[in-house]
Amino acid sequence: MSRKLFVTTALPYANAQFHIGHIMEYIQADIWVRFQRMQKDDGKPREVHFVCADDVHGAPIMIAAEKAGKTPQEFVREIAAGRQKPLDGFHIRFDHWDSTDSPENHELSREIYQNLKARGLIETRTIEQFFDPVKEMFLPDRYIKGECPKCGAKDQNGDSCEVCSSVYSPPELKEPYSILSGVTPVLKSSEHFFFRLSDPQCAAFLREWALGNANGHPRLQSEVANKAREWLEGKEGEESGLSDWDISRDAPYFGIEIPDAPGKYFYVWLDAPVGYLASLKNYFSRIGKDYDAFLADPETEQYHFIGKDIIYFHTLFWPAMLHFSGKKVPDNVFVHGFITVSGEKMSKSRGTGISPIRYLDIGMNPEWLRYYIAAKLNSHVEDVDFTAEDFMARVNADLIGKYVNIASRAAGFITKRFGGRIDLGGAESGDSLLNQIRAGADEIAALYDSREYSRALRQIMHYADIVNAYVDEHKPWVLVKDPARESLLHEVCSKLLEAFRILTIYLKPVLPALAEKVETFLNVAPMQWADIQIPMENGHTVNTYEHLMQRVDEKLMDALVEPDKPVPPAEKAEDAADTIDAIAPEVTIDDFMKIDLRVARIVECDLVEGADRLLRFSLDVGEGRLRNVFAGIRSAYKPEELVGKMTVVVANLAPRKMKFGISEGMVLAASDKDDTGIYILQPWPGAMPGMRIR
Ligand code: 2FM
Ligand code: ZN
Repeated sequence: MSRKLFVTTALPYANAQFHIGHIMEYIQADIWVRFQRMQKDDGKPREVHFVCADDVHGAPIMIAAEKAGKTPQEFVREIAAGRQKPLDGFHIRFDHWDSTDSPENHELSREIYQNLKARGLIETRTIEQFFDPVKEMFLPDRYIKGECPKCGAKDQNGDSCEVCSSVYSPPELKEPYSILSGVTPVLKSSEHFFFRLSDPQCAAFLREWALGNANGHPRLQSEVANKAREWLEGKEGEESGLSDWDISRDAPYFGIEIPDAPGKYFYVWLDAPVGYLASLKNYFSRIGKDYDAFLADPETEQYHFIGKDIIYFHTLFWPAMLHFSGKKVPDNVFVHGFITVSGEKMSKSRGTGISPIRYLDIGMNPEWLRYYIAAKLNSHVEDVDFTAEDFMARVNADLIGKYVNIASRAAGFITKRFGGRIDLGGAESGDSLLNQIRAGADEIAALYDSREYSRALRQIMHYADIVNAYVDEHKPWVLVKDPARESLLHEVCSKLLEAFRILTIYLKPVLPALAEKVETFLNVAPMQWADIQIPMENGHTVNTYEHLMQRVDEKLMDALVEPDKPVPPAEKAEDAADTIDAIAPEVTIDDFMKIDLRVARIVECDLVEGADRLLRFSLDVGEGRLRNVFAGIRSAYKPEELVGKMTVVVANLAPRKMKFGISEGMVLAASDKDDTGIYILQPWPGAMPGMRIR
């Protein structure tokens, strides 16, 4: 039976673009998900569903929207519109991105609340709450600051302490003040709903869940379990036990209305984690999969990647909410530390540090960052420090110097001297170099699975060192000078490419785009973990080697960490630039409108005898007749792949008389400078023949 995994990252507040801390978490989770997706269980692919959503509710977002002169809905919609670009940019591939304001989240949050209420775990109490007499509103927790009641740290938020991670209620703060008006708030009473976590059944369940074992090992990371233990049982000599949790807020509030309680809303932290489920539910309805059956299946595993600042919510409130409302509880939460930049703590709210958006905008390779972050992450709740020097050293010396170089050292010989043909000689079945590298498969898999990425990469680079030592020992550049040793040269370089293939599989969870380029170069199907053990066959041919990755340019690094520094020219920033045509001189909109582009249906397509580059098309451009068009794309497509498909033609191009007939238009296709890849254009479904493109 294949494993079924449901994986999430924390839902980001929808009041700002991603900061580097979000990207680090998403990269950590994305690597794990990609690793899992490369695995098979009993020959069947592992099933992995990876979702996230914007966390849109709460007073801070309501207040920020008001300041921006927008409704909260408009405000969060604009933030949501900016999510996909950086996610795609860093190759972070969620299956689905949602919002906690979805109808499904409203419904699920209410359902969970009603189930808790039916269990007798919701209590109504009149409480005194801080009210800003100048602003005339109850103050949301984050708008009250003061000294932490537990450790005394100054300027802590009203609901939790960033220094000691305690969670408390605002009236417990010492020396409170309103950050909206600066005045000392006054206490005013109002009716609130509480989740009765102090009920002994809650503590009993949580002790079991948070401090117990899962699959024969302590469920939580040791640091996380220690925190949970402290909260559940108290430190030595301190009072212990869970307090009830205030889950309601008074209007005005952007949130989900509590059933049968007009003017009362769920506190954002009640509906936020429910958003994990709502996002999965929406995703499943999109792909036509049964959500209830999936979560009811005892085999389903549920994991949440989170930062260390939200452990309390995820190890106490969330499992208790789920358990006592009769739902599946998480199998685990995977907690990471913060990312610091040159030792400086990045503030969540101030968003300081390096900007992931700028990183992409200035053309830095996203996989450098994926590699760097992976090289620093382990399974502990430790902070990760980003420094420019360290970044350049790891990427240039390890990633490029050790790994990428293996391919560039061998590929030229294979393509130029042996027509791209692999010949491992006897090494196909058994060889000490290759066997040694393949033998690491289980260990490296276990390291990825336990989120010990740093150790996994160290092991992979150790293998890269071994391969490079092999190159230095066998010196292909010397072998090439001796015709008598031609077959040895062939075998050595084939072995190097096979070793490179295995290393690429090891790195694929971290470097998905690079791995795809390598798959194209090696002319192999998308590689799975099991392919480590299956060598390229003798006689298999590889494609021409294209440079895989550039080194980090110091100037680019400067431009990232010191935004006032200029960005070096784009050609230098991206290796792709070498293979892409320069942008043509500017045209006006009128110039552009002179070209009449139309949607066309490919009615017929055939080879042209005597012309090995051409295909002949009969195209329906909505004119009640068919057009005859020739296109030089035979190297990329077979006629039968194209018949019936839609494409785009230049419809007003002057007819051209060719040796084989008249061409009445031009089919559009994308390619790089050397026409090494040709991709015909296809409009989105729904476009009809004759529609104009503008
Ligand atoms: O701390 C945060 O950024 C929250 N928006 C995380 C929510 S995680 C989940 F509970 F939704
Ligand atoms: Zn504190």
